[in-house]
Amino acid sequence: MAQTERIEGAVLTKYVIRGGKPLYGEIDISGAKNAAVAIIPAALLVDGVCRIENIPQISDVTMILNILQELGADVRTVNRTTVDIDCSHIRNAKVPNELARKIRASYYLIGALLGRFGSAQVPPPGGCHLGDRPIDQHIKGFVAMGAEVDVRGGFVNAWVKDGKRLSGAQVYLDIVSVGATMNIMLAAALADGTTIIENAAKEPHIVDLANFLNSMGARIMGAGTDVIKIKGVERLNGGTYSIIPDQIEAGTYMAAVAAAGGEVLIKNVIPKHLECITAKLVETGVEVEERDDAVLVRRDPNARLTRTNVKTLPYPGFPTDMQPQMAVVLSLAEGTSVITEGVWDNRYRYVDEIRRMGAQFQVDGKVAVIEGVDHLTGAPVRACDLRAGAAMVIAGLAAHGVTEVDCIHYIERGYEDIVRKLSGVGADIRVVVTPDEDKQAQVG
Ligand code: EPU
Repeated sequence: MAQTERIEGAVLTKYVIRGGKPLYGEIDISGAKNAAVAIIPAALLVDGVCRIENIPQISDVTMILNILQELGADVRTVNRTTVDIDCSHIRNAKVPNELARKIRASYYLIGALLGRFGSAQVPPPGGCHLGDRPIDQHIKGFVAMGAEVDVRGGFVNAWVKDGKRLSGAQVYLDIVSVGATMNIMLAAALADGTTIIENAAKEPHIVDLANFLNSMGARIMGAGTDVIKIKGVERLNGGTYSIIPDQIEAGTYMAAVAAAGGEVLIKNVIPKHLECITAKLVETGVEVEERDDAVLVRRDPNARLTRTNVKTLPYPGFPTDMQPQMAVVLSLAEGTSVITEGVWDNRYRYVDEIRRMGAQFQVDGKVAVIEGVDHLTGAPVRACDLRAGAAMVIAGLAAHGVTEVDCIHYIERGYEDIVRKLSGVGADIRVVVTPDEDKQAQVG
């Protein structure tokens, strides 16, 4: 007779959200994921101890810290949001396969190791599936600086010909790329001579990486504009640096208030970084008041939102990482809204999920046409990736009835304590752990 064997640890963890409750109170924003995942590898370039503050507690950060430890870094937790990292004893430029393949940001290890050792062996990056995610522009930069790069045996191998140090070079990026801009900055910080990156990305995390490196002794000018100049230095010294607040985490909670209604003070933000998001939410009828380091977001739960159009673009345009969350807001707006995804080829994988909740969504390539509905209805849905997962949570908060969000490991890659933060403003959201029926093997 067949028996059911329970596989240890085979559980499903979901968020269960009872929607329709407006949000009131305050939310504190954590440090920026996309800054942290570049600044932590940047510690490889530093000769001494880097104290990094305002680190978000998310799984992508845990993974990048684990990779540094496996390489031989001394990583010491000072408190919940602060670590000391000392990479001075590392002698190894080969990154272990299993860990690095799980996250996108492992590509920053190529620039950092190449800058430090003149060679790097790093597995091709993983991360969310948003369409083709090439790293040709990163490689173009390394090659211009005198590196050879090939992909063999499951690794991206990069090494400097005839010697150990990269040489400064002029690099024009054919496409505005956050990752390529930061990776070339990492490689160039200790290079021989000056590197100029033209058509550079301008995101707040690019400025943050430049500020981190400069505070350790680098000479980087122009970060935040489309031309960045990096004068290579001999050595970077240890120091203390605090990561900027997360623009996208803040934007996600702003969108949550827009969708569910209520009044929330979103604290520990840089309002300037949120302007691209604020402007669009204001067009839909949401009130946003800027304070010194906070924004107050208000939406009458009984008033309908107004339609608008959104095109995602590199900073200071509307961020692609806010596209799914904004789509949920527009699903509830009166009239027809159009979203054009200007960065990724395939960032609408969540449409089937949001349609289960009653959203009226048509997608054709990079364009989504949304007919606003009066309300969404709770349903079992899946987080397809990090931001799509956050969008499902927002939809659940606004919906009538109960929403169960599955595959929440994607969400926890980038949102610290999302359940606690939302519960703190009155949301009815719980983590529920159940045995995974599919993983109970039939034996005998
Ligand atoms: N691209 C190329 N060649 C390259 C690099 C990029 O063609 O060598 C293309 C990409 O295919 C894409 C566009 O350029 O169409 C922009 O890509 P970018 O390099 O800017 O993206 P990324 O560095 O891989 C980071 C964030 C993403 C965010 C994008 C855009 C990290 C770890 N990831 O990715 O964040 O969407 O910038 O702002 O910083 C997220 O946080 O959810 C997330 C996906």
